[in-house]
Amino acid sequence: MTSLLILNGPNLNLLGQRQPEVYGKTTLAEVEAMCLAKANKTGCTVYFQQSNHEGDLVDTIQAARGIHDGIILNAGAYTHTSVALMDAISSVQVPVCELHLSNIHAREEFRHKSYIAPVAVGQICGFGPAGYALAIDAMLCHLSELSADA
Ligand code: DQA
Repeated sequence: MTSLLILNGPNLNLLGQRQPEVYGKTTLAEVEAMCLAKANKTGCTVYFQQSNHEGDLVDTIQAARGIHDGIILNAGAYTHTSVALMDAISSVQVPVCELHLSNIHAREEFRHKSYIAPVAVGQICGFGPAGYALAIDAMLCHLSELSADA
């Protein structure tokens, strides 16, 4: 069965309480439940993780190699700063879908730059918590195209 890692970066543990006018009122636990329901429907397995620490995120991406078929990554603020995350993604042969709740391109200029985008399959942003389910569909679609090509 296809296995997806859904990895959340810094401050996403505060979802629901943190700037609800930007990120909404849905908690990370509720997002996880939505992802598990989506996985049930689509017949894949999802593993949900969150860390506030850049090195932990690097370790988790490295550990995904050979274990997960794809990663859905909301790297939070590290999206805009982390060469280490970009290098980790480049170093493992696991496709990544970049995800953001908010539309980072419609926000402050420093959020327009993503170190993840050049090494990701694609980016989903601006759809709030629904973006997680969209990202699962997008990654499953990408993986089935990869296996059809093989
Ligand atoms: C975010 C967008 C980032 O710019 C921000 O630093 C976050 C959350 C999002 O999901 O919209 O922490 O990744």
